[in-house]
Amino acid sequence: MHYLVTGHTGFKGAWLVQMLAAAGHEVSGLALAPVEGALFARAHVGELLVHDLRVDIRDAMATAAGVANVSPDVVIHLAAQPLVRESYRDPRTTWETNVNGTFNVLDAVANTSSVKAQVIITTDKVYRNVNRVEGYREDEPLGGHDPYSASKAAADLLTQSWIASSGCTVPTAIARAGNVVGGGDVCAERLMVDLVAAFNAGQDVHLRYPHAVRPWQHVLDCLAGYLALTDALLRGEQAGEAFNFGPGPASFVEVGAVAELVAQLWGTSAGVVIDPAPELHEAGLLALDAGKAQRELGWRDHLTFTDAMRWTVDWAKRVGAGEDPRQVCSDQIAGFNDGGQE
Ligand SMILES: NC(=O)c1ccc[n+]([C@@H]2O[C@H](COP(=O)([O-])OP(=O)(O)OC[C@H]3O[C@@H](n4cnc5c(N)ncnc54)[C@H](O)[C@@H]3O)[C@@H](O)[C@H]2O)c1
Repeated sequence: MHYLVTGHTGFKGAWLVQMLAAAGHEVSGLALAPVEGALFARAHVGELLVHDLRVDIRDAMATAAGVANVSPDVVIHLAAQPLVRESYRDPRTTWETNVNGTFNVLDAVANTSSVKAQVIITTDKVYRNVNRVEGYREDEPLGGHDPYSASKAAADLLTQSWIASSGCTVPTAIARAGNVVGGGDVCAERLMVDLVAAFNAGQDVHLRYPHAVRPWQHVLDCLAGYLALTDALLRGEQAGEAFNFGPGPASFVEVGAVAELVAQLWGTSAGVVIDPAPELHEAGLLALDAGKAQRELGWRDHLTFTDAMRWTVDWAKRVGAGEDPRQVCSDQIAGFNDGGQE
């Protein structure tokens, strides 16, 4: 099978390309250039690709030409502006990338006859957040306060409308997942990125919302969910459906507790500093009910919360000690496929 991953130069995309290549698939990618220090470059992910395209998905013609040129069997659409705080700073780019860009990918796929399945990646933040403890189910209302969440909710609704009304016959499904952690993330404003950078430098870490509860999941578990959904589409099942891929309640953990665990796994005496007055609204609690994915796709997390944190710290420590990032990714993918043995 030939997979096209949009957003392959990003964090999830770089891991996904490696997972797909390890499973023996052909893989191509379509995205902007990787940001400085990205896993994509550090792990030489470009070497694994059939086509490595630099295309802005806001450009409809370039996106259509790129998808047609690759002529893939499967499209997994990850490309997005994925950061909440950046979305406050630059709402226009966020909306244009996440909504117009998704439209352009859907339209390009509809005009590429080779495609047998596509999965559109949105997020847990698509749900209208009422700060409740129970996880959201797929049939609950969408919403979004900040431009990132609202634009991803809009992309999700756009995809639902596209499935219902466009006449496109490519089996299409939506995957919603939450915060993921794993080796090599460099996105600004993500907790694990801040923790690893600070502890690596022996510095204290600054937290904005120590009591915010998030569902923490390892990137490989999330990506395994996307691939379980893709496989179902290829078997002729689940077209038109949305699925949550979130961890169970044992992985709903406060930001402050995550910082303490990571400090302990790192073996650092650096501390945690609370920034008193965060200026931007961020949701207090977000959790997903992944029962549907468990029942209908047979998917479940391989890694516990502590394992997810340990694997992320181990990745950073091994690479920090001079090991090749591709080899460390490859070892972790093999261990994951072995049922979660590192
Ligand atoms: N990482 C998380 O914790 C998380 C949580 C929920 C949902 N998601 C979703 O997963 C997907 C991937 O996230 P990530 O963490 O890998 O983000 P990332 O920022 O690491 O990667 C984003 C990718 O999108 C590409 N991109 C951005 N703008 C583009 C444009 N205009 N044209 C073409 N490509 C463009 C970038 O080049 C990059 O390859 C996103 O859709 C995001 O909303 C991520």
